[in-house]
Amino acid sequence: MQSTMALVLALAFGVSQAVAQNTNQSAAFNLVISSANKTLDGSFLGACHEGAAFEGLCPGPANATAEYNQYAFNYTASETPDPVLGITGQLTWVLQSANIKLSSPLSITANLVSNVAVPLFVPSSSSTYIGFDKDDKLFIPQYYDDTVTPPKADSKQIQRWYVCTTQDAYLYSTLAWVIGAHAPENPSCQKVDVKRVFV
Ligand SMILES: *[C@@H]1O[C@H](CO)[C@@H](O)[C@H](O)[C@H]1NC(C)=O
Ligand SMILES: *[C@@H]1O[C@H](CO)[C@@H](O)[C@H](O)[C@H]1NC(C)=O
Ligand SMILES: *[C@@H]1O[C@H](CO)[C@@H](O)[C@H](O)[C@H]1NC(C)=O
Ligand SMILES: *[C@@H]1O[C@H](CO)[C@@H](O)[C@H](O)[C@H]1NC(C)=O
Repeated sequence: MQSTMALVLALAFGVSQAVAQNTNQSAAFNLVISSANKTLDGSFLGACHEGAAFEGLCPGPANATAEYNQYAFNYTASETPDPVLGITGQLTWVLQSANIKLSSPLSITANLVSNVAVPLFVPSSSSTYIGFDKDDKLFIPQYYDDTVTPPKADSKQIQRWYVCTTQDAYLYSTLAWVIGAHAPENPSCQKVDVKRVFV
């Protein structure tokens, strides 16, 4: 509804940005890894460089105050929360340089020849909707279960996060999302949870 209105208004007034923004923003938080692997457990996700203005999420040492480790949740406060999912929105990180300060949302794009996808912050109007569960853990909303025929409405908070050695722009250890309820085809992947801890 809202985005349709924004689009109509944008078309009517010739505004170039036609996408409704999630203008409500949480306080800054860190994203902390939980893992059975003691080396990874407690590491902080940092916005690591993956090409011009693109960043992945790489585990590293804790630095709660570093901008590299700080994110926010952008949402629309007027949205009616889904009874199971709660409020979903965008995970954002601020890309900064000498004369740029650009809030970039997280996007997860499927690589069609793998079931391991690398989440990236991209300064773009498209993004992947995410949420945080009651324990502050990062999830991606499922609306339909297509493992049954016909697919049935089944809202769920899905957490298929792994840390894997990935090759996007660079060969890094990054946060990854595994597509579907299957084991990751990349043998380096280790199952993790991602928790929001306010700064
Ligand atoms: C997130 O919200 C802040 C505060 O309203 C805004 O400045 C920023 O542009 C938003 N980011 C995105 C990606 O919409
Ligand atoms: C959400 O954003 C709108 C528009 O910027 C503002 O009027 C409202 O007070 C915000 N609500 C909350 C809960 O932050
Ligand atoms: C634990 O994680 C580290 C860092 O990713 C990795 O080098 C190591 O092989 C892992 N250990 C096990 C037992 O998987
Ligand atoms: C944390 O990050 C800040 C800002 O980038 C930096 O000044 C500080 O030295 C870092 N602290 C540690 C312990 O790495």
